[in-house]
Amino acid sequence: MTGSTLTVEELDDRVVVTLRRPEARNAINAAMVRELHEVCTVLEERPRLLLLTGGDGVFAAGADIGELRERGRDQALQGINSRLFDRIARLPMPTVAAVDGYALGGGAELAYACDIRLASPAAVFGNPEPGLGILAAAGACWRLRDLLGASVAKQVLLAGRRLDADDAMRLGLVAEVVPTDDLLKRAHALLDRMARSGPLALRLTKLVTDAPGGHPVTDDLAQAILFESSDKSVRMDAFLAGGRS
Ligand code: COA
Repeated sequence: MTGSTLTVEELDDRVVVTLRRPEARNAINAAMVRELHEVCTVLEERPRLLLLTGGDGVFAAGADIGELRERGRDQALQGINSRLFDRIARLPMPTVAAVDGYALGGGAELAYACDIRLASPAAVFGNPEPGLGILAAAGACWRLRDLLGASVAKQVLLAGRRLDADDAMRLGLVAEVVPTDDLLKRAHALLDRMARSGPLALRLTKLVTDAPGGHPVTDDLAQAILFESSDKSVRMDAFLAGGRS
């Protein structure tokens, strides 16, 4: 499955999506939104890990400004990007963004919507939307606060602070900074690590971690499901028999 703006590689335990609009620095246009929704459909139907990356030294330079320029109130209320990024955030299995170069505006929001981010030393996160007279309305105003706290989020959102790879690492926005040439290899290693866990356990852990409330009831319910799974018995028997993974 490959669209005009994405390369999509479907593997047994993961799907790898590469944003491909190099002529527009991977700016997210309507076609890319549509194709990313198609990827979501695939992952909802058959849950797998997702690795999302850019190419040519850029993750994504934001929503497509040419398209944004023409949008009015009704398109804003459709939540074109916010709904897509919410859908990505709610994918059943963990998602990883491998960020090399700019992740600005909607590009940053796409990375914020993923569960884990890895960065190259060239990564730059920022939300310059107010400079264009608009709001970062596809998640940055609340996801960035959840990820980094209100103080840093407001520096990014209100004062145009850009977070380079060192900042992102120090602030916990990214799990690791790795040389560009190793970025995908490290991302795959992280996915390998997750792929060794029980898939249902990962799925329920993500669901419970993101649950808006209801703790500890949700945690107990999820655990009740997992305690009855044969995967749990197999994994614990293997541990007790001395086979460590
Ligand atoms: N939407 C539409 N087109 C974009 C774009 C965006 N968000 N970001 C870059 N492009 C286009 C440019 O218009 C340019 O097109 P052209 O070659 O037809 O003139 C092309 O991509 C290359 O961009 P350029 O600015 O020349 O590349 P650069 O490497 O010098 O700079 C950036 C890269 C990301 C710093 C710069 O493109 C930029 O600031 N982009 C906008 C970021 C932004 O404000 N995002 C928030 C949007 S909500």
